[in-house]
Formats: sequence, structure tokens, C-alpha cells
Amino acid sequence: MSQEPKTGAAPATRFEPGGPLSGAIEPPADKSISHRAAIIGAIAEGPTTVSNFLDSDDTRSTLSAVANLGAMVNPEPLNGMPGQFVIDGVGPGGPRSLGRIDVGNAGTLMRLLPGWIAGYEGGLWRMNGDASIRRRPVDRIADPLRLMGAEIEVSDERFPPIRIDGRQLHGIEYELPVASAQVKSCLLLAGLRAEGPTTVVEPLATRDHTEVMLEAAGARIERGQGSVTVWPGKELRLDAVNVPADISSAAFFLVVASIIPGSQVVLENIGLNPTRTGILTILERMGADFDVEPRDSGPDGVDGEPTGRITVRSADLHGTRVGGEEIPLAIDELPLVALAACFAGGETVIADAEELKRKESDRITVVVDALSGLGAQIKATSDGMVISGTGSLRGGTVHSHGDHRIAMLGAVAGIASQEGVGVVDMEAASVSYPDFAGDLEKLVRT
Ligand code: S3P
Repeated sequence: MSQEPKTGAAPATRFEPGGPLSGAIEPPADKSISHRAAIIGAIAEGPTTVSNFLDSDDTRSTLSAVANLGAMVNPEPLNGMPGQFVIDGVGPGGPRSLGRIDVGNAGTLMRLLPGWIAGYEGGLWRMNGDASIRRRPVDRIADPLRLMGAEIEVSDERFPPIRIDGRQLHGIEYELPVASAQVKSCLLLAGLRAEGPTTVVEPLATRDHTEVMLEAAGARIERGQGSVTVWPGKELRLDAVNVPADISSAAFFLVVASIIPGSQVVLENIGLNPTRTGILTILERMGADFDVEPRDSGPDGVDGEPTGRITVRSADLHGTRVGGEEIPLAIDELPLVALAACFAGGETVIADAEELKRKESDRITVVVDALSGLGAQIKATSDGMVISGTGSLRGGTVHSHGDHRIAMLGAVAGIASQEGVGVVDMEAASVSYPDFAGDLEKLVRT
């Protein structure tokens, strides 16, 4: 890894061809679960001890938002353990009314937090974030929250900033127009205070970390086939949350170790919630060679979130078709499926993934531009992409567009390429994986 000057542009971080990869790492903590630990810990009554909280730009935004809303966040690590600290929740008294909340780049914070605060009469909040956040739709939460009685204004009827005037809410039954864990979670949090039950019907199953954590906190939650209902009125106490490593971060190593011959990498303490493991199913179908050793649950089991060790070895991959119910289970890993597909024999089709356009960047356009710029045979479709595997990538330059997953995609593509890749704005990785380049280098050099 080295810095290379680029005329008239930000410097690019170079990732030279390398490998095989070997060694063991524990990737950073799960971003989705960390956001929820901070928010549900803030809603709950009394202290929650959080262990292995993700230290990244996104999750720091969430901690400072909940601290501004009245939760006591003691930043001093407990027992000298980084990522372990106590959040003292505000309990039924509710959040402090505070003018402005800056969510930075964190879409999950932008979509979950309104669910908590919208039901507190007398509160008035304004939420905003960076340029990428201001392009990400929030009508998907504003519309159903209004049906619950919330008073919310958004810009151009669709985008942040959001203004929330707290109101007493009432429960609804709501069928999500798009499968989104963020929207589902927002409505479940709103349902904790609404009059009557709130039911969310999902077109396809999405990550259920909110349900798992609310159940652990003592909320009354009932799960049906394709739906989840929450009732108000229970006192929430979370006590402890132990965050596993993020499978979405582990996925970069799963893919790069699969495509660089001779590699073998061990990934420790990975969250294996079945609503997140779509990448494993897809890679397995592509012929990847990995073992999963689930960790026994028991006294050390992690709050209803299964974990385990994954050992991955390089393999000859072949193309596949990804679509339908698999999409929400692997939504953040689809750029990596596209990279794996470049090295796989035959054609790979990713379909039904229009939601990719609404992530930290338009991940259909940005992935297709990035990988075709490196020599891939890839084309965009209206709801995904089609890749013809060539078995190699030449190399070149990738611009992250401020999107952490594109920065890391460029980095692993560089290691697997023939001529290396310069990633412009590699710093974007700090949203979920601040030391990604360091961990990658460690595995390449071991
Ligand atoms: C997330 C849900 C997904 C995912 C995002 C994190 C979450 O978004 O892409 O990175 O923590 O709930 P959607 O729920 O909008 O699909």
C-alpha cells in the first residue's frame, strides 16, 4: 500500500498485486448491531454494557446522537477493553428535545432514530447529514410514520433534512413497499410507544437484529410468516450486548482469498445471523471452498446472534444467478459478488437489486464503472448487473465516491489484479472499517 500523487485529484492509495493471503483476523464489530446497541441501549431503562462496539465514523455519529438525546454514554473503556463501555438509557422519560442531530454518513442512524423520537410529544428535532445522506430517500420512513400520526417534514418530499415534531403515535399494520431492515426497524421502534400494536409486513426477509435485540430487552414482539408485531408498554432493560464481527467486513477477505490462488484465511467471531449470510450461500454456489465452525451457544452465546469461525481457501469459481429473496440477505456484499464473478468461469447475473442505487453511492453505476475501468466485462442492467468472467483483472484506478464499500472493493481488486489499483479516497473505508488497509496488508504479508 502506498500513496500516489494524481494530478488535479485527491491522492490515490495504491494496492499492488499480492498474495496468496494467509493468517487469521477478527474483522471489526458489526455495524448494524452496533447502531442498534447504541439506540436500543439509549431507549432502555438503566445501564447497558456494550462489548466490542464498532469504533468507526458511522457508529460514532450514533453514539453522539444518543448522548445528545440524553443517554449517558461513558466513553471510558471498561476494564481497558476497547469497544467496551456503558450506556445509561433514558428509559420511559424519553429523549431530551434537542434542535439538531448530525448523522454524518450513517443511513441506518438516519432511518432508525426517527422511530424512537417521533412519538415524544413536545420534542422538536432536525436531522441532517453529509452530501451522500442528502441523496438517500427518507420518504420510506416518513410515509409510514405519518400513518402512525407522526409530524414529519422532509426535503422535496423525499430527502433529508428531516424535521420531526413529536406526537402521540398509534399502531398500524404496514406492508413495506421495498424490503428494508432500516424501515422495518424504524417502525418497530415507533411501535414501542404507539397506542396499540404495530405490525410490519415484509415482502422478503431482511436482517432481524432489531427484533433480536428488542426481544433480549424484554419487548413484546411476535414474529409471523413474513411479518413482525410489536406492542407498547413493556419496560426495556438490555443489560449487556456483545457485538460479533461484521460478516459484511469479513466478506472482503472471503472473496479475495477465494480468488487469489494458494490463499487460506481464518476469520474469527463472525456474526452468522441467517438474515446476513446470503454471501456464504452465493459463494458456495460459485464453488468457493470454506468451512464454518459455529460457536456453541450457552453462557457465552451472543444475545441471540449466532457467531462462528470461517476458514476460506482459494478455489476455482464459476458464475451464478443471484436474485429474489437472496438480495436482502446479501445486499451490502453484492459489489463483492461482482468482483468474484470477474474471476469466475462463465456469466454471473445479479437481478432484483435496484435498491443498490440507493446505498452510500449508486452501487450499480459505481461498481460497473469501477470494475470495467479495471478491465472487467461487466454491464449494468435496470436492477443489477451482468458479468462475464475473464479470470483476471488488469488494474487501474477506482474512485470510492465516498462509499466505504467501494473503497474496500477497489483495494481487494488491486491485490487480485495484474497491475495494481489506485483507490482515490480510500479514507471512506473509515465509515465501517478504519484499519481495512492494515488488515489486508497483514494477510498479504503473513
Ligand atoms: C442495514 C440495512 C440495509 C443495509 C445497510 C444496513 C441495517 O439497508 O444495506 O447497510 O443496519 O438495517 P436497507 O434496510 O435499507 O436495505
